[in-house]
This record gives sequence, structure tokens and C-alpha cells, in this order.
Amino acid sequence: MKIRIATEEDVNGMANVHINSWKTTYKGILPDQYLSSMNLETKKKNWLRNLKMLHNVTFIAENANGEIIGFAAGGPEQTNDWPIQGEVYAIYFLKEYQRQGLGRKMIKAVIHELMKMEHKNLIIWALKDNPSCGFYRAIGGQVIAEKTVKMAGIELIEVGFGWEDIKDVLLYL
Ligand SMILES: CC(C)(COP(=O)(O)OP(=O)(O)OC[C@H]1O[C@@H](n2cnc3c(N)ncnc32)[C@H](O)[C@@H]1OP(=O)(O)O)[C@@H](O)C(=O)NCCC(=O)NCCS
Repeated sequence: MKIRIATEEDVNGMANVHINSWKTTYKGILPDQYLSSMNLETKKKNWLRNLKMLHNVTFIAENANGEIIGFAAGGPEQTNDWPIQGEVYAIYFLKEYQRQGLGRKMIKAVIHELMKMEHKNLIIWALKDNPSCGFYRAIGGQVIAEKTVKMAGIELIEVGFGWEDIKDVLLYL
């Protein structure tokens, strides 16, 4: 497996991972109709736009055949509602590549970039019902915030996992 910075040529593979990982991750959490209507072209456009954000960083993971199997993105905390500087916005792998230690490798790459940007602390939001919250706990995250969000027409609870010192994440990787 190789992790590298994403380029515009990667948006098709990223959109594919995005849609397929959402379908498996959020089945039973988000409405089926919403998940089945996710559109590849829309996601490609979103990723093209995201990749142009100068203060963000996006990595992809590819398998031995060069196929994109995961991605992660981070940058400055997005809301200014919390006294936190850095945020991992997203980290998703295809189901068949989960629980093999790739998440730890991917988050390490993002954290190093966030540290280069001089972010001193970190927050990552996840839906409270997402079993992957176990990943954030396993890498030392503590729940420091909770909020209600509206997604796909329903209200859901998100929890914010925080690290007071971003370097502490590295102790768990
Ligand atoms: C969350 C995710 C990025 C983690 O990456 P990963 O490669 O699966 O995680 P790792 O193999 O590096 O796991 C490290 C540790 O985190 C914990 N962990 C990971 N996923 C977990 C889960 N679903 N439930 C409970 N604990 C989990 C475990 O302690 C694991 O160690 P172990 O496998 O030795 O028990 C990946 O599972 C994924 O893409 N999940 C679906 C998408 C998602 O929910 N993304 C986050 C949205 S906020």
C-alpha cells in the first residue's frame, strides 16, 4: 500500500471510495435512499474543488495495482467555534481494506502535515453512532464536544474527538 498526496487525476478514485465507504459505513444510520442516490460526478466535482483549497492537505492510499482504496483530508479547524487549530475532515477506506492498520498510517501522514502547518491541537468529528469512533479512541482521542447536525434530512449527533497536543496522536501510531 502506498500513501501519497492526492492530485486532480485522483478524483475519480476518491469519489468511488467516498461513495462506497459511505454506503457501508452509514447503512442503518443514514437513509438508504440518500445513500443509493450518491452521485459519482457530484463527488468528483466536490473533490476537485476541495483539492484547490490552499491550506488543506489530502492524501490517498493505493493498493498494489495502483487503485485508490482510501483517502484522508485535513487542515484548519473549520468553524472557529472551538479553541482548536487543526482538524482531520475525513478519513475513509473501502470496507475490504479496513482494520488492517492502514488508518493509523494514513492519519500519521495527515498529522505530520498539520504539524508542519503549525497547528498545535486537533479535533475530529464523527457521527456518534459510527462504530469507527473506536478508531479515534484507539489513537487517544477524548470526546470534548457534541453537536446536532442535519444530514440527509435527519438530525444526528456528532461527537468531537480532541487532542490537546497534536503530537500526542503520534504516541498511538
Ligand atoms: C475509521 C477508519 C479510517 C480506521 O482505519 P482502519 O485502517 O480501519 O483502522 P486501523 O486498522 O488502523 O485500526 C487501529 C485501531 O483502531 C480501532 N478501530 C478501528 N476501527 C474500528 C471500529 N470500526 N470499531 C472499533 N475500533 C476500531 C481498533 O482498536 C484498531 O486496532 P485493532 O484493529 O488492532 O483492534 C476505517 O475503519 C474506515 O474507513 N472506516 C469507515 C469510514 C469511517 O467511519 N470513517 C470515519 C468517519 S468520521
